[in-house]
Formats: sequence, C-alpha cells, structure tokens
Amino acid sequence: MAKEPVRVLVTGAAGQIGYALVPMIARGVMLGPDQPVILHMLDIPPAAEALNGVKMELVDAAFPLLKGVVATTDAVEACTGVNIAVMVGGFPRKEGMERKDVMSKNVSIYKSQASALEKHAAANCKVLVVANPANTNALILKEFAPSIPEKNITCLTRLDHNRALGQISERLSIQVSDIKNVIIWGNHSSSQYPDVNHATVKTPAGEKPVRELVKDDTWLNAEFIKTVQQRGAAIIKARKLSSALSAASSACDHIRDWVLGTPEGTWVSMGVYSDGSYNVPAGLIYSFPVTCQNGEWKIVQGLSIDEFSRKKLDLTADELSEEKALAYSCLS
Ligand code: NAD
Ligand code: LMR
Repeated sequence: MAKEPVRVLVTGAAGQIGYALVPMIARGVMLGPDQPVILHMLDIPPAAEALNGVKMELVDAAFPLLKGVVATTDAVEACTGVNIAVMVGGFPRKEGMERKDVMSKNVSIYKSQASALEKHAAANCKVLVVANPANTNALILKEFAPSIPEKNITCLTRLDHNRALGQISERLSIQVSDIKNVIIWGNHSSSQYPDVNHATVKTPAGEKPVRELVKDDTWLNAEFIKTVQQRGAAIIKARKLSSALSAASSACDHIRDWVLGTPEGTWVSMGVYSDGSYNVPAGLIYSFPVTCQNGEWKIVQGLSIDEFSRKKLDLTADELSEEKALAYSCLS
C-alpha cells in the first residue's frame, strides 16, 4: 500500500540552498524512494515571484513522489501540518564575515517563526535549522517554542561532518563510504572541533584507525582541523556565494538518518540540545556524535576525550555561550 505523504517545510526556498534542496526532497533523497512528499515552501514577499518560479519548475520536473506544493509568504500557511521543517530562510554571510555577524538579522526571524511552528506544525514535527548562526538560531527557536519537545529541534553540522570525511578521503585516496565515525563537536563555526580520534577506515585487513593510516598527527591536529573549520569561508571566497549543493545534500543526510536510522556501528554529527554529556554545559545546541533509531537521536556515550580534545570541546562551548548571550541582547 502506498505511504501517506509527509509534509516537508523549507523556509528560504527561493534562495540558493532552497533551489538545490527542494528537488532532492522531491526525488526521495531525504525520506526514501517510496515516501511521497508534499512540499511547503516559505519565503518573504520580495522573493514571492522567484518562489513561484521554483514551484513552476517543480511542476515541470514531474517528480512522481511529489504530491503537492504550497508556495507562500505566509508563515502560518507554510507551517500548517508540517511533519519536517528545514529552516534555511535568513541572510547568508558574505566574504570577510563570521557566521555570528548575521546574528541580529537571523535570530529575530527564528523567534517569530518559532511561534508559527509551535502553533501550526504537526505534533512531533522534526526541525532542522540550517540558517546561520545555526546552533544559536535553533536555540532561539527552541526557547520561543516551548511546547515543541527539545529533542525535536536540531541544527545542521552534518555538512562539517561530511567535509571531514571528504578531507580524509582525499588524503588517503579512499572512498568516503569506507570512512566512519568522525565527529564534529560544538558550533557550526570556525571554533568547531573536527575530531578523528575514534574514526576508522574499512580496509581489506579489517577496520583501522584513521590516525594509524594517515600517519601524520601534525597534519591531523592542525591543517585538517583548520581546513574543515574554514571550509565555509573557502567556498564563499571561491564562489562569492556560500555553499549550497553540499549544504542541501547534507541537510538530506541529517533528516534521512534521523528518520530512517543510522547504520549499525556508525554515528553521525548533529547539533542537538545538550544534556551535559561530555561536560558540555546543558542548555546549548551543541554538535555531538549521535546514533538514530526509530526517529530518535541519542548522544554516543563513553568516548575517551584527551587533553587536546577537551580544550577544543570547551572552547567551542564557550563561543556558544557567548552567542547565546549575544542573541538575547539582539532580541531585547
Ligand atoms: P540565500 O540568500 O540564497 O537564501 C536565503 C533565502 O531566505 C532568501 O530567498 C531570502 O529571501 C529568504 N528569507 C529571508 N528572510 C526570510 C524569512 N523571514 N522567512 C523565510 N525566508 C526568508 O541564502 P542561502 O545561501 O540559501 O543560505 C541560507 C542560510 O543557510 C544562510 O544563513 C547561510 O549562512 C546558511 N548556511 C548554513 C549552512 C550549514 O551548514 N549550517 C551551510 C550553508 C549555508
Ligand atoms: C558553510 O559552512 O558553508 C555555511 O555555514 C556558510 C558559511 O557562512 O560558511
């Protein structure tokens, strides 16, 4: 029997991530090849015509899984009945800016859209915040939508996770699919900590630690970390626009694994509400290693954290606490 369609909201759908993301969703990349979807697309009035153009293209592409499209500039209409909300709407940073420089514009959007989601989304709606500063926007959304369970509000650090896989794959000339269990800790910002201490590679001789195969701790502890931390800025420098296809693809990975589960023995990185695990202050949206099953994420527990890593986990937590205070000052 055919499945009931799932309603997926994409805010900022007329923007560049939106343009890459909506066809992926309509093709089943996010929720699977047998899951029909109804797309809800929200943007602001100056982008209404462009948004309608995206809707026209979705019709023209004749996606078999796409059972309907709502394209609107009304947040209530956009949020009504949605099961999944991918929050991309906002202002991207430009060359020379840090992600927190777009804070004041974006947190106020997340405060107001929190109430629309809280009041009108389907019960148990899963929320993924992509727009920067992603962790802090997600935190604001959580705080202003108190009836949405905190476990349902997450932010995107899967792009950073995938970037870490990409760098290791290039360094070792191996497939990304043979590497697993890298971790992005903390903020989706240049303070994030890409950690390979528990990452392994599938080889004909069994699973080997990434560190053993790379054989260059200096590269892993310095250049690798910096490259992943600064990759967003490098893309902006090269494209004069921030990342879009990789962000859209990673957003699909995030939701797919959350809804359909992570493979046995594999974890992924998600920005989730901290419960104090790994001595990260509770009450921040912080990127942790998580496994997912039955539509729920769980922080991987018990990983050893060496002194080098500890400092980096704390540094990015400190930045998130500062961002939280700054966000509240922007809203007051
Ligand atoms: P973009 O400027 O191309 O598109 C953003 C869209 O949001 C625009 O169409 C704009 O009209 C719309 N918008 C603005 N205010 C809105 C509101 N109140 N409600 C609904 N829509 C609104 O930007 P983009 O390149 O698509 O990037 C979107 C966001 O995602 C930026 O904040 C960017 O920094 C962020 N980003 C995050 C990641 C990540 O990994 N977390 C990766 C890439 C980009
Ligand atoms: C990215 O990581 O590519 C995005 O967050 C865009 C940015 O501002 O870096």
